[in-house]
Amino acid sequence: MNKILLDTLWENAIQKDILFGFCGPHSVHLEIEYKSDFRNAIFLREIADTICTNYWVHPKWRTRIVLIVDELNNNAIEYGSAFWDMNLFEFLLQKKESWEINIKIAVTDRGTGPKSKNAQQMEELRIQHTSKDFREHHSIRWRGLFLIISKLVDSLKFENIRGKWLCVIVTKHLREHSEN
Ligand SMILES: Nc1ncnc2c1ncn2[C@@H]1O[C@H](COP(=O)(O)OP(=O)(O)O)[C@@H](O)[C@H]1O
Ligand SMILES: [Mg+2]
Repeated sequence: MNKILLDTLWENAIQKDILFGFCGPHSVHLEIEYKSDFRNAIFLREIADTICTNYWVHPKWRTRIVLIVDELNNNAIEYGSAFWDMNLFEFLLQKKESWEINIKIAVTDRGTGPKSKNAQQMEELRIQHTSKDFREHHSIRWRGLFLIISKLVDSLKFENIRGKWLCVIVTKHLREHSEN
């Protein structure tokens, strides 16, 4: 796994040559530590987009992966960590047989935000948010994690790390060039 501090990799733009240097022929595994600030979300989206393009993820899924990355990071920034605490963004893409692609995305916050939660509290929200009443709500909020992401991915899990850090993990199996 390549560990990166966002500040050290680029200043105002993604340096794609550095990013491609982390990409092996069949896999890439990055752990990026970044300050919990919405201004960093654009870089994280671009990293996911660049990696998916590099490994021939279908454009439809590339867009979805970028959306998922954005949702998880935005939630860590909005709820999980105090402003400018450090969040961790893990992105793993592995090609097994020639066409099979497995992706794991994990975002860990520091649990220092005013609305931070632990894994048990997130499981309670999951139960609440998948109820029929909730699915029919019309608010623009609360759609990301349980209504959109959970339907796109193969698994959505919550883990407690070092006591109060929350790690949100999703996995997805795809096929190269395939939109299914
Ligand atoms: N990292 C996190 N830390 C604490 N709470 C979270 C985190 N991620 C999500 N949540 C909780 O889950 C809810 C649902 O998340 P989401 O679907 O992204 O909706 P939204 O962000 O629009 O409220 C949030 O309102 C928040 O209460
Ligand atoms: Mg959200």
